[in-house]
Amino acid sequence: MQEMWTALDEYIESHLISEDPKLQKIIENTAEHGFSNHLAVAPNQGMLLQMLIQMNHCKRVLELGTFAAYSTAWLARALPEDGYLLTIEGRDTHAAMAQHNIDQANYPVKVELKVGRAADVLRALPAETQPFDFIFIDADKQSYPEYLELSLQFSRSGTVIVLDNVIRAGDIINPDNHKPSIEGIRETFSALKDHPRLLSCTALQTVGSKGHDGFAIAIVK
Ligand code: DHB
Ligand code: MG
Repeated sequence: MQEMWTALDEYIESHLISEDPKLQKIIENTAEHGFSNHLAVAPNQGMLLQMLIQMNHCKRVLELGTFAAYSTAWLARALPEDGYLLTIEGRDTHAAMAQHNIDQANYPVKVELKVGRAADVLRALPAETQPFDFIFIDADKQSYPEYLELSLQFSRSGTVIVLDNVIRAGDIINPDNHKPSIEGIRETFSALKDHPRLLSCTALQTVGSKGHDGFAIAIVK
């Protein structure tokens, strides 16, 4: 099935996603530096993130897990010039690649990359930090429950939180899989259920060039 999913993503992309030299350059740079692109979102998924930001007129966006800044670029594209995007990456090598890609793309909106474990960086943010309007959680899956709670501390009523990779080709319902990443996602589902700070929440499975996975989406009460 993977071949067909990939072919269909290519069809969607060729029909609906206009070419963007900045995004293309990020993909090329990342490959040239020897990084596999499998951690990045697909173009049609990046467009979904862009649209959620546009739909909600978001100005302040937080991303946990930058990797090479491909999803970051989709978030930046969606923002007005007076917006602000904070992205946090835990691995130095990824962060260096990401900073290079962010600098080269040179989006009009301010894009700040902080390096460190997302939870540590968030806890160290100044007390006067304004809430974010949109939060994309895409860092280490093991820590998603912690990232969700911290994200809520930096949310307002109406903030949209999107969590990537919550299906993992069905591993989350395989009772023999006890990997920390998978346990982290299961705990996240439990935390999302009837969370007192959430207005609504769901998860959607996706198939495509990135395999079988999914997004969870929540709105803060
Ligand atoms: C992995 C992480 C991601 O965020 C992703 O989108 C795909 C794969 C991983 O750790 O394997
Ligand atoms: Mg991801």
